[in-house]
Amino acid sequence: MSAVSRFAGLIEKFEDGPIWTIGYLVYDPEWRECVVIDVPLWSSDKIYKRVKELNLKMRYIIATHGHWDHIGEMRKLKSLTEARVCAHSADDWMMCDPKGTVIKPPVPVEPVSIDIPLEEGTTLQIGDITFKVIHTPGHSAGSVCLYEEREGVLFTGDTLFAGSIGRTDLPSGSYDEISKSISTKILALPENVKIFPGHGPESTLKKEKSDNPFVQMMFAER
Ligand SMILES: [Fe+2]
Repeated sequence: MSAVSRFAGLIEKFEDGPIWTIGYLVYDPEWRECVVIDVPLWSSDKIYKRVKELNLKMRYIIATHGHWDHIGEMRKLKSLTEARVCAHSADDWMMCDPKGTVIKPPVPVEPVSIDIPLEEGTTLQIGDITFKVIHTPGHSAGSVCLYEEREGVLFTGDTLFAGSIGRTDLPSGSYDEISKSISTKILALPENVKIFPGHGPESTLKKEKSDNPFVQMMFAER
């Protein structure tokens, strides 16, 4: 676990599991409410311990998409906190049967059901923090990004990474879709938006526009 800059103290990062997936704890210290975005394998006890230390009520557990490394311990965290699980219904089948995807998890992953289906434009609020859902299919049909406009932060899951993009060769993946999602939705946001991906370091949209070869190729193709 480590705190990250800007929004400092409001976002904590839990990088865990066999392929180093990142779960984010985001909280409002005044309202004492929090949300968790993705729950990697082996992370739920650490997240829960931190939530207890901070005396927070967990309102939502959000899946950026249904791949097993992002929902690895979602069911366990839900049972500990009674928070509601939110995800796009297009990835429901992966969450109900985590071993049914092409790349099987190396250890058993408990299925988890969606309590609140997310769609383009859905908003989720904790205290003074509001997340707007941006539906960004391509890595999977149900991939979403979470945008906090006032703070200028975007949680991108496996859609956009620092210097790369999510793979599109898995079930329901599509290069055309991810290209459209990134070029028409993500890159339409202000350049100073900071991105928090599901793997690897943070970045900004400005940096990705100038340095990310996949993003540049998508622009060239349009
Ligand atoms: Fe993924």
